[in-house]
Amino acid sequence: MSALFTPLTLRGVTLPNRVALAPMCQYSAGPDGLPTDWHRVHLGSRAVGGAGLIITEATAVVPEGRISPQDTGLWSDAHVEAWRPITAFIAAQGSVPAVQLAHAGFKASTYRPWAGHRGGVPDTEGGWTPVGPGAEPFLPDYRTPAALDEAGIAAVVEAFATAARRALDAGFAAVEIHAAHGYLLHEFLSPLTNHRTDGYGGDRAGRMRLTLEVARAVRAAVGEAVPVLTRISATDWVDGGWTIEDSVVLAGELAAAGVDLVDTSSGGASAAASIPIGPGYQVPLAARIRRDAGVLTGAVGLIVEPEQAEQIVADGEADLVLLGRELLRDPYWPHRAAAKLTPTPTWPNQYTRAF
Ligand SMILES: Cc1cc2nc3c(=O)[nH]c(=O)nc-3n(C[C@H](O)[C@H](O)[C@H](O)COP(=O)(O)O)c2cc1C
Repeated sequence: MSALFTPLTLRGVTLPNRVALAPMCQYSAGPDGLPTDWHRVHLGSRAVGGAGLIITEATAVVPEGRISPQDTGLWSDAHVEAWRPITAFIAAQGSVPAVQLAHAGFKASTYRPWAGHRGGVPDTEGGWTPVGPGAEPFLPDYRTPAALDEAGIAAVVEAFATAARRALDAGFAAVEIHAAHGYLLHEFLSPLTNHRTDGYGGDRAGRMRLTLEVARAVRAAVGEAVPVLTRISATDWVDGGWTIEDSVVLAGELAAAGVDLVDTSSGGASAAASIPIGPGYQVPLAARIRRDAGVLTGAVGLIVEPEQAEQIVADGEADLVLLGRELLRDPYWPHRAAAKLTPTPTWPNQYTRAF
């Protein structure tokens, strides 16, 4: 019996296995954040490849929440129409389509990696003024954000909820809230980036408030049957920053707000972080949150070997394994892993003559 190839039921949805495509920006959206044929083929290939859960790239809940002008969004009915064939194809392969709902905060309006420039995109090239917890830019060459006031914060919460409702219309069966990697929600969580003196800053409870309001609003928007995941940065890897102890508390509060699984990543709030990168380097963070907060977790980060992924689930370190770059290199990784770990072939019927 393979633990990795055992189904996982989250509320009204059952994932056929514990392998997920990690959310990964493709910087390939059409005008105004509409997904394109690239997303249909890219995400569709990973569904054909056998990943039980397909999570889209960071998909912005408002235009100014895009990381780059080429990011996808879900802020209008046109986005719903554009996502529909993509989610339908994923579901037809037996995989579960999920959207990562995101707001990039003060890291918005940046060039895509292959643009040949770094930092903030100016208005003349389709950029915009980002928003953040304060008015300091992330790095000197990033755009200077406008600090959100309380009305702006309320609008962000509402935008996540509205996008979550649109996600269901678009055929997504699960929603992931992006609260990691130095984007807006993490900017509010981390003492490195949140210097507010109002009710959304200060102590840990104040800094957690926006993320928890978003979680409650998304849960209310999608109803009881739809899984809600949240991706967090479990540590800033910086002295004086957000810690794993903070994350255990946050995970418990997220569960109380209706979040079903904490997708455990790290870093992103500070360019000065020293991250001990190595095989499975974030797995202990997922294991700690799972044990101490009593919530389901996802593990991600340099998980590349089938036996490694199997062990993480079998040992109870996480309930779901997310693969990023390995699934870029090999969309068929889940079928190859199943061939090693289970007696039953999982390849699609269309491909069985290959074997
Ligand atoms: C090209 C690329 C784009 C990414 N975009 C996102 C994103 O949109 N949202 C997110 O939460 N993480 C994003 N990540 C991080 C991945 O989801 C993953 O956590 C990270 O790559 C570590 O896992 P891996 O070692 O399996 O690649 C991205 C990573 C890559 C390589």
